Amino acid sequence: MDRQKFVTELKKQTEKAEEIVMKYLPDPEDKLQKSVIEAMNYSVTAGGKRLRPLLMQETYRMFRGQDEIIEPFMAAIEMIHTYSLVHDDLPAMDNDTLRRGRETTWKKYGDAMAILAGDGLLNFAYETAFKCFDIVEEESGNSGSTHETISSKYLSCANALKILSLKAGIFGMVGGQCLDVEAEKKNLTLSEEELLFIHEHKTAALIQSCFMIGGALAGAGTRQIEKLEKIGYNIGVAFQIRDDLLDVIGDTDTLGKNVGSDEKDGKKTYVTLHGIEQSEEDEKKLTEEALEILASLPGKHEFMEELILSLLGRKK
Ligand code: IPE
Ligand code: IPE
Ligand code: MG
Ligand code: MG
Ligand code: MG
Repeated sequence: MDRQKFVTELKKQTEKAEEIVMKYLPDPEDKLQKSVIEAMNYSVTAGGKRLRPLLMQETYRMFRGQDEIIEPFMAAIEMIHTYSLVHDDLPAMDNDTLRRGRETTWKKYGDAMAILAGDGLLNFAYETAFKCFDIVEEESGNSGSTHETISSKYLSCANALKILSLKAGIFGMVGGQCLDVEAEKKNLTLSEEELLFIHEHKTAALIQSCFMIGGALAGAGTRQIEKLEKIGYNIGVAFQIRDDLLDVIGDTDTLGKNVGSDEKDGKKTYVTLHGIEQSEEDEKKLTEEALEILASLPGKHEFMEELILSLLGRKK
C-alpha cells in the first residue's frame, strides 16, 4: 500500500473508530450523578490516537469479520485505556497535569471525581462490551441465520469478554501498573526481566487484547489467536519503549502530555536502563518480528502492516 493511500485510509478508519467510541458514551443529561459522567466523557472526548480500537477493527476485518459485534468492544477498550490514563495521571501515581492536550481529569475535577471517573469508565466498558449479546440477539431475528451460527456468535462474544477482562486486570494492565508504581515508590533497581514484565503488562496487555478480540470475534482458531497474542506483545512492548523515548526526546505540544514526567518521578524506564540507541534498536527488532508473524496469517494485511510501521519512530 503506498504512503498516500495509507494516510487517507488511516484518516477514514480513525474517524470511524471515533464515531463508534462517541456513540457508546453515557449521557449525563438530567442525571443526579452527571458530574461523574461528565468527568468520564471529558477524558474520552479529549481525543487520542484511538490506536486500540483501530487495531481491533483491522484484525476483525483481516479475519473476515463483517458485523457490528466488534463495535461495543472497540468502544470498551478505549474506555478501559482511558480509565488507565486517568488513574495513571493522579497525584498518587505519576502526578501529571496535561493529557491529550487538556488538563488531566484530576486537575480539572479533583482527585475524588477523577478516581470515580476511572471506576465509572472501567465498569461502563463492560456494560458496553456486553451489548454484543444484544446485537447477536437482534441478528438472530433475521431470516437466514441458523441456530448454529447464532450459538457460535454467542460463544465468540463470551471468549472476547474473557480476553478483555484478563488483559485489563491483575494478570494484565493492573499487574504492570502495580510493579511500575512499586519500583518508583520504593526506588527498586529493576532487572531486565522486571522491566519487561512492566512493559508487557501495563501496556502490551491491552494491545494484545485488541488483536485477540478482533480475531476471536471473527472466529479465528486457537493457533491464530496465539499468533495474534505474540504480535500484540511485540507491538505493545515496542509501543512502550517509544513512549519512554518520547518522554525524553519528545515534544509536549505534539504529544499533548508532559515530557520529562519519568525523570521527574525518578522512574526507571527502558531508556534509563538501555540508553536511547539500544531502545530504538529494540523497538525496531520487535516491530520487524511482529511483521513476520503477521505475514504468516491469512487475509489481506497491507493496512495493518502500514499501521504497525507507522508506530515505529512515531512522534506522538
Ligand atoms: C499512552 O497511550 C499510554 C501508554 C500506554 C503508553 P497512547 O499513546 O495510546 O495514548 P492516547 O490514547 O493516544 O492518548
Ligand atoms: C502508562 O505508562 C501505562 C498505563 C497503563 C496507563 P506511562 O505512565 O508511561 O504512560 P504516560 O506516559 O503517562 O502516557
Ligand atoms: Mg505510569
Ligand atoms: Mg504516566
Ligand atoms: Mg510514559
